[in-house]
Amino acid sequence: MQAHFLAGHRVSPPPHRRSPVSAVLAPPQLRRKVTHSLPPEKAEVFRSLDGWASSNLLPLLKPVEKCWQPMDFLPDPAKPTDEFQHEVRELRARSGELPDEYFVVLVGDMITEEALPTYQTMINTLDGVRDETGASSTPWAVWTRAWTAEENRHGDLLSKYLYLSGKVDMMMVEKTVQYLIGAGMDPGTENNPYLGYIYTSFQERATFISHGNTARLAKNYGDSVLARICGTIAADEKRHETAYTRIVEKLIELDPDGALISIENMMRKRITMPAHLMSDGCDPHLFENFSALAQRLGVYTAGDYADILEFLVGRWKLESVEGLSSAGRRAQEFVCGLPARIRKMQERADERAKTMAPHVVKFSWIFNKDVAL
Ligand SMILES: [Fe+2]
Ligand SMILES: [Fe+2]
Repeated sequence: MQAHFLAGHRVSPPPHRRSPVSAVLAPPQLRRKVTHSLPPEKAEVFRSLDGWASSNLLPLLKPVEKCWQPMDFLPDPAKPTDEFQHEVRELRARSGELPDEYFVVLVGDMITEEALPTYQTMINTLDGVRDETGASSTPWAVWTRAWTAEENRHGDLLSKYLYLSGKVDMMMVEKTVQYLIGAGMDPGTENNPYLGYIYTSFQERATFISHGNTARLAKNYGDSVLARICGTIAADEKRHETAYTRIVEKLIELDPDGALISIENMMRKRITMPAHLMSDGCDPHLFENFSALAQRLGVYTAGDYADILEFLVGRWKLESVEGLSSAGRRAQEFVCGLPARIRKMQERADERAKTMAPHVVKFSWIFNKDVAL
């Protein structure tokens, strides 16, 4: 049985299970539970940054009146019935050109967006920045609610599009969403906003990349509307990435040691996709299979994972951070060298994959049709 190596840790795949195609996109291993790891004096850092957050984060939100809405991209049910039906027929003709395997990945992305209640909950576990009342006026809470409201359009739009396309088993898709929200997520952020905002920086960029790739593929298959849908969602993710990376940049400026050690902490744990606990009630390896297909179609790959980390190392100028303790310097060295190590590890995983027999799985989301991984 093969082993996967990441960040110096050796872990074994589950028994009776073929190794996933990706060296970094597999589900996380069980980890020791740590909570409230932010010392109280560091929570004060966030309180002292209220003014900074108001002038540096909140302007990155878009006023509702200037935001797109799902209805900008969908057949309008308020039109006369025949016009509405004509628009639906056009949508179905365009989406009819897309292969089933593409829909599996689009469904996985949509389900990930639809578990938004989990992500707002996760951000509100973070000490020092959580929304204490549900309608708190701190800039951190205002950001989180408005970010959620912007994100809420992503799942709505993709879900309505998929419903109208007729290409997917909506009953199974809906069950998967319900299972996933019920399961939650465990990104290992320890109620610690340093860790939380490092995670969201990485994830917003990951979703920017994956929605960008589903847009590119839709365009290649001739569905220009779906390409515009995915591209528009990707642009939101990019703006959100700007906000979260700005927070971490500020933490590096104020507390370089604490920030570097936190980045090392998250990268050693591995940044897992937010939907890592997904289930459709049928396939016990649904998340691994979805991840492997996303890797094969080039929608989200181990190479993207390494690219994101490399981008963040550059964005936060991690190689030139000075004034670090010895632990901080070790963290810096580890994080800055990690993209190259991930690439090497993936090359080895790719070599192993070439020697394996083709693997076919069924996805309930597309009526149990076979898909090669
Ligand atoms: Fe999103
Ligand atoms: Fe996002």
